[in-house]
Amino acid sequence: MSQAPAPSPELPAEDERVEIERVAVEVSMAAARLLVDERPHDLGVDTTKSSRSDVVTVMDLRSQDLIMERIAAARPHDAVFGEERGGVDGTGAVTWVVDPIDGTVNYLYDIPAYAVSVAAVVGDPRVPGGFTAFVGVVVNPVTGEIFRARSGGGAWSGRPGRADERVLAAPGPDLGLALVGTGFGYAAERRRWQARVLGDLLPRVRDIRREGGAALDLCHVATGRLDAFYETGLNPWDLAAAWVVAREAGVVVGGLDGPETPGPDLTWAAGPALAGPFSAAVIEATRAHRGV
Ligand code: IPD
Repeated sequence: MSQAPAPSPELPAEDERVEIERVAVEVSMAAARLLVDERPHDLGVDTTKSSRSDVVTVMDLRSQDLIMERIAAARPHDAVFGEERGGVDGTGAVTWVVDPIDGTVNYLYDIPAYAVSVAAVVGDPRVPGGFTAFVGVVVNPVTGEIFRARSGGGAWSGRPGRADERVLAAPGPDLGLALVGTGFGYAAERRRWQARVLGDLLPRVRDIRREGGAALDLCHVATGRLDAFYETGLNPWDLAAAWVVAREAGVVVGGLDGPETPGPDLTWAAGPALAGPFSAAVIEATRAHRGV
């Protein structure tokens, strides 16, 4: 029998959250510069993970190392949980959840739709539903666009040379007029049923986009570039930072069990008016094809 996740510990106080957000912005921007400035001309695949299309480049590793070094210098008691190299244990309550490149395949092909994603959470990020993300920063290194949020502080976006702007999500259109982002896992068997879920949804919405980076997709729901997003198989590092941005912007983020339950089984996001009909359609299609 699966055990219920332990309740998350309390969030750090506001002044500590502000400081953690400052560190998250600094390390994400530094990693973003590294990815652009030091991208090798002959960038290739370093290793593969769940399938031969699930790739790691040398720059994923360098970006992760840089982020871990800077977090260790600024916040030596915190734990780090990252997509590459696992992570380090801490002695305090805060864990950093790091994706050094979200959208690695786009980075490999030099498609400018990838991100550095850095979150701070309390609880256990390894357990779905076992953690609360309270700071999130997502940076697109190519455009320099940054999305940042902390619990209670709102969501903000910024671009080089421009003042930061508050991000407030729109309620969302009717389901039939919704522009929906999604993504697919790397394993062939999962892709087979993900295609069937997509087949159910496509006739019911305005159109589908598959940009290739879940963190940016979720931020784009916050800014209105997408009306909604869903995917099965997201890892905590794909999700944690953008979840804070979306939540603070007023986007409803949920999973198979409804709002506030995103995780590997299903993550969906939409503005408050669209969230009900969209989540019903996505949950129904996912349960039908995945058998959960
Ligand atoms: C991937 C991207 C992609 C999503 C995959 C993720 P990665 O992250 O976010 O859009 O569809 O599920 O694994 O592997 O590039 O960090």
